[in-house]
Amino acid sequence: MKNLLVTGGAGFIGANFVRYLLEASDFSGRVFVVDKLTYAGNIHNLAGLEERFQGRYRFFRADICDTAELERIFREGHIDAVCHLAAESHVDRSIHGPREFIETNIVGSFHLLELCRRQRGFQLFHHVSTDEVFGSLGTSGFFTEQSPYQPNSPYSASKAASDHLVRAYHHTYGLPVTISNCSNNYGPYQFPEKLIPLMILNALEGKDLPIYGDGQNIRDWLFVTDHCRAIWEIMKRGVRGQTYNVGGNNERNNLQVVAAICDCLDRVRPSPDGRSRKEQVRFVQDRPGHDRRYAIDASKLKGEMGWTAAESFESGIVKTVHWYLENLDWVEGIMNGEYREWIEKQYG
Ligand code: NAD
Ligand code: TYD
Repeated sequence: MKNLLVTGGAGFIGANFVRYLLEASDFSGRVFVVDKLTYAGNIHNLAGLEERFQGRYRFFRADICDTAELERIFREGHIDAVCHLAAESHVDRSIHGPREFIETNIVGSFHLLELCRRQRGFQLFHHVSTDEVFGSLGTSGFFTEQSPYQPNSPYSASKAASDHLVRAYHHTYGLPVTISNCSNNYGPYQFPEKLIPLMILNALEGKDLPIYGDGQNIRDWLFVTDHCRAIWEIMKRGVRGQTYNVGGNNERNNLQVVAAICDCLDRVRPSPDGRSRKEQVRFVQDRPGHDRRYAIDASKLKGEMGWTAAESFESGIVKTVHWYLENLDWVEGIMNGEYREWIEKQYG
């Protein structure tokens, strides 16, 4: 893999992955980022890379559904591997408007696969997917690579569809592929519509902390750098045609997550009136079809590649809170008109 294309590289995980890869001691190739820069994509997430990694990094603003433009980029970059992260990624948005999820996550993935299977000497198509394709767990058990697909939201259904396409391109055309299904990520550069950054910023500003339903829904939280390391391990050493589950064994319900954020903020940035941020918690109407519990069994990845999460939930959440406190100008930068409109519609 000498010329790696990263789709969605200006998003949360993409930007962390591009940074991780360019700094990795075992990758000396070039990184080409393709990103449409939707509301969730932010060129500032990649700031400084052009200067620091001259000749090894290029950014292209393009839609993965624009086949002519992608073909041009593939030719120009002699692309021999793809790490595919570009997607519409927010469950709530998929409930309100699924169309873009179908277009980008399914049709866009199809266009990319078509292009890759026509490249000579193509090395790898890695698809970054989610554990949400497996649906919802009860109080016990874990998702394994053998768990049946039971996606419940338009988002997870669109990711399930793209997983199936990737698998089929391996089976039918022999395209070298790997797939990772990862649990919920958090960390620097996450767009503040997702639970953890939303709660950090609302807590800081003295706003309500909206908890859907009873707050007992469980997610298996993974610090984003641990995910990036897993993706790179799978790309290097994963068996072609296989899928790998990625998760940090950090199950927390939403109330526990919000309490951890409030405790951290109360410690490092006490509110002016001395009250705990936990008093800002408000229970709001539940998300339709809200999955109850996700939990990952990552023993295949651990067994084959020795991967384990380096960050505990406690250490990761403190790092994340500090990152947002130190990057409030980044937050201000993305609070553009479109996003403000969305917040107002959601929360009044
Ligand atoms: P994100 O929303 O922060 O970033 C998505 C990026 O894709 C943005 O930069 C956006 O501009 C870009 N994009 C969207 N449509 C595009 C198009 N048509 N053409 C080109 N670029 C386009 O999402 P994220 O949280 O970084 O997630 C990245 C990937 O990882 C997604 O595929 C998601 O399904 C998967 N994933 C996310 C999580 C998580 O917890 N965030 C967990 C597991 C898997
Ligand atoms: P989210 O970050 O949207 O990720 P996902 O739905 O992909 O797991 O949500 C994480 C959990 O937090 C999920 O159970 C929904 C819940 N949640 C709230 O309770 N309030 C909120 O404002 C948000 C955005 C999410």
